[in-house]
Parts: sequence; C-alpha cells; structure tokens
Amino acid sequence: HYGTSRRQRGLLMKIGIVDSGLGGIVVLKECIQQHKTAHFIYYGDYQHSPYGNKNDMQLKSYYQAAMSFFLKQNCDLVIVACNTLATIIDPTEKRCVTPIIAVQKKIIESSSSNLIVLATKRTIQSKVYDFQKCNLVACPRFVKKIEKNPQSDYHKVVCHYFKKYPDAKTIVLGCTHYQLLKETIQNHFLHPITIIDSSEELVRQLSFKNSPLKIDLYVTKLTRRIQKNIATLLKNESYQLQKIKKDEISSF
Ligand code: DGL
Repeated sequence: HYGTSRRQRGLLMKIGIVDSGLGGIVVLKECIQQHKTAHFIYYGDYQHSPYGNKNDMQLKSYYQAAMSFFLKQNCDLVIVACNTLATIIDPTEKRCVTPIIAVQKKIIESSSSNLIVLATKRTIQSKVYDFQKCNLVACPRFVKKIEKNPQSDYHKVVCHYFKKYPDAKTIVLGCTHYQLLKETIQNHFLHPITIIDSSEELVRQLSFKNSPLKIDLYVTKLTRRIQKNIATLLKNESYQLQKIKKDEISSF
C-alpha cells in the first residue's frame, strides 16, 4: 500500500509524478500554483519520449518501470500526469491519480457547440475523450517542438492544427505538455475561447495533506538540452536532478 503508514506516522507526503518529459514538470508547477505541496518525486521517461506514438505493450512496460521506481522510493501516491500513459491504466488502480476522469467530466459539463480536443495520437485513438460533441485532433508535432525548446514560437504549428477549426469555442488540452501552448492558442483566435487544461484539472482533483515543498527529479535519460529545458521551467524553484541508474528500476 502506498504510504498509509507514512501518513499515519505523520511523515512528509511523498508524491510521485510520471510523464514522458516536460509535461510532468508542468503538472509539478501546477501543484505549486494550486498550493498543493509535498515532497515530489518526478520520473521523466525521456528515454522513451514521446509516448504519443507508442503502443499499449510499450506503454504498459514504461508504466510498470515507473511504478516499481515509485514503490522503491516509498511514495504515498502517484500522479500519472501523462494522458497517454493514463489511457492504459486500470481505472480501479487506487495508487494512481490520472487526468482522464476530471477532463471527461469537464467535457460532459461543457455546453459548447464547437469543442476541439487536442491530444497525442495514442490518446485520440484510445477514445477516452471521444464524445459526440468533440472534434478530435491528434497533434504529433507539439510535443517534439516543446521538448526541443519550451520557449519556441508555436504560432505556425498552432495555425497548422486549427486551420480546419476557425470557429472553435472550447479547446481541450488533452496532453500535459500543451499548457505551454496556452497563450499562443488564445492569441490565435480573435474571439474568446474557453480552455480545458488537463494539467490544471488533474491537479484540481488532488487532495492530500500539504507538507513542505521538496523536489527530486529523476530522468531515464539526461542531456544538456533536457537539463536546460527543465531549468527554464523551474527557474524559481530549487531541486535536484539526476539520471536513474539502470539497476534502480526493474524493467528498464
Ligand atoms: N505529456 C503526455 C500526455 O499528456 C505525452 C506526451 C508524449 O510523450 O507524447 O499525453
């Protein structure tokens, strides 16, 4: 069991966050933004990024590797930040929180006549956000561009995906990375749009006992670019970043 005893002993909350990359950092920042703090253990699976074009079997093995890592770290709870990874998880899995149910709820509640869901190819194919009122758009270019440089100019690539939807009213960001495109998307339209952001909705549903903020970042691959991009996003926080050694996870 994840952490019941730790909580009972009144120790710091240890919360795991898994994503293929920067999307997990977005969710971590969102936790801080919403004043939900803990000792965060981030697992960035850069070695297998992007997740969006992987199959079920691959995603299941990445998920198991992440969970075994979190178990060793003695986490109280795991935030499966990544929508793509969340599509293969058993919904009755008690140790994890995913964005899917919270986002589905927002879609159902929305009375918008023109609703566009942006997500990875795998998430779109999984049909988790496939409701009658939704236009589903797979955006394989977004994650690659964000991981290259989270501060790049997204204008062109946003235009590309919205060409067919000039009258969009509500836009679902069905991938944690896409929060970084929010401003560009808002500026793209001349009319006001409503954004349903999976990172925000995911964090909104979390309730755990707050404890002092501590950030430990672990990645399955570490390059200068990864280091720099994480530093850009977490410029106001102090954290430790290290590459996971192969023997620290079971099926790497
Ligand atoms: N950020 C992830 C998601 O929410 C996956 C991005 C990727 O690696 O393709 O779907």
